[in-house]
Order: sequence, then C-alpha cells, then structure tokens
Amino acid sequence: MNVFLPNKCSPSDIKVLQLSDLHLMSSIDDQLVGVNTEESFLSVLKLAHEESWPPDLIILTGDLSQDSSTQSYKRLIGHLEKLKTPCYVLPGNHDTPNTLKQLFSNSPVSYQPFLHYREWMFAFLNTEVPGEEGGALYDVEINNLREEINAHPDKNVLICLHHQLIPVGSKWLDTMAVSNPEALIEIIETYPAVRGVIHGHVHQSFNSNIENTPLFSAPSTCFQFKPNSKEFAIDKLPPGYRWLRLSAQGDISTDIIRLKEAPLNLDQDSAGY
Ligand SMILES: [Fe+2]
Repeated sequence: MNVFLPNKCSPSDIKVLQLSDLHLMSSIDDQLVGVNTEESFLSVLKLAHEESWPPDLIILTGDLSQDSSTQSYKRLIGHLEKLKTPCYVLPGNHDTPNTLKQLFSNSPVSYQPFLHYREWMFAFLNTEVPGEEGGALYDVEINNLREEINAHPDKNVLICLHHQLIPVGSKWLDTMAVSNPEALIEIIETYPAVRGVIHGHVHQSFNSNIENTPLFSAPSTCFQFKPNSKEFAIDKLPPGYRWLRLSAQGDISTDIIRLKEAPLNLDQDSAGY
C-alpha cells in the first residue's frame, strides 16, 4: 500500500514521514530491551521505501540517540543522507540539543526552529530539560512561534515536538509529559492556522485533539510501550512510522505503517531501560 501513489495524492499535497524514538547507541552492536535499535531503525526505513516513497520531508521527533553519543548521531546522519530527502530533527529527553545544533547543521539533515514549505509552516520545538525524562516548553520558543505565525498568516502550521502535550492514558508515562503545556495549548486554541500537532516519546500511536486541532504520536522505530498502562510495560506491537499527507487547504490525512513482526529478541518483561 503506497499511500503516496499519485492517484491518492494531489500534486499540491506535502508527503511527510514521521520517524520517532530511534534510541541509537554509541556502538552499532548495542541493544536496548533486547533490540538492536540500529537494525530496527534500518528495517523501518526499508519498509518506508517499500510502502511510502518518496516523501517530500522526513521529520524525526526526538530520542534520536539513547546515549546522546556523537557516534550514534554521525551514523544517523549517514543513514539519512542516503535518502536524498530533506530531514528535520528535534531533540528528545535522551538527546542533547546543543549537540544536535552542531551536528545536524547541513542540508539535507537539519535542526532548525521553523521550516516554510509551500503552503505550510513547520515548527520544531525543543522540550528537553537537562537531566529529566519529562519535558517543558521554553518561553523564548513559544514567543518565537507566536511571532512566526503572526508574520505568516497565510500558512498552515504543523507543530512538532517530542513530549506529549496532553495525557495519553499511561500513568507512568504521563508523569513525563510537557510540564507546562498551557501556553502552547493556548496558541493551538487561538490560531486556526495551527492544523495539527505531532509528537514522539510515548512509543505508541496515539490520536487525540485539542479543541478541533488533531494531535498524533508515532510508534518508536525500536520498541513500543503498552497503551493505558499504570507502570512501565513493553508492547509486542512491531516498530513502525507515521505518514502524513498535508493538503494545501490545511487538511491532514495520516496513518501508521508497521513492520510485520516485533524484533526477534524483544524483552517483553523488561522493567525499564
Ligand atoms: Fe523514546
């Protein structure tokens, strides 16, 4: 099922892949929860090539690395450069924003606050709080976002961040959401130009909305968390990605594509990572 086939897409649609929570490690042989995160990421990329190619943009919504190592980031850049597609990253709680700024500074792999692309504007927010698993929004970024929206009133806006803005229903995971979502929620509620929000962090597909603005998360490219779980629990669903079609009029179509099987040695009884 190639969701981007011309008969399903208008030429003015923007085709986006969201990849999230890669958790790559400093060594290519390292594993997490029984999963070689690099192999799993490459399998998801291969699937995307088979099912949803070519996208116009790829957005990676954080936790690119598990250990924030230069080695993991450099290998990731190498993988992404081969795709010949513009890629935009933002930091997760396992990443270091300053390292991303230094390393992801050259097209086609960039970390930047905004992207203007045809009728859309993409905002890439940083919610990383040093030393914490939970996230927070920074006043300077919220103010910049408001200014950017005001300066480009004709653009549809997609807000991209790592941490969830609203609870996803898992008690342990929702202690690690954005701790101060109010200002961004107010922007979402106030500006009709904001057409959607995408995030990572929750290692599962979650759909909701704020007022009438849809909000989506993506599965992880390695291991998944069980939805509606009180405590940390691994789900046996396979890794995958989200695709989004953004129409020039501001509508969003989206779905999840997953591998056929979960990673072979996935540790379903893991108590954490
Ligand atoms: Fe993650």
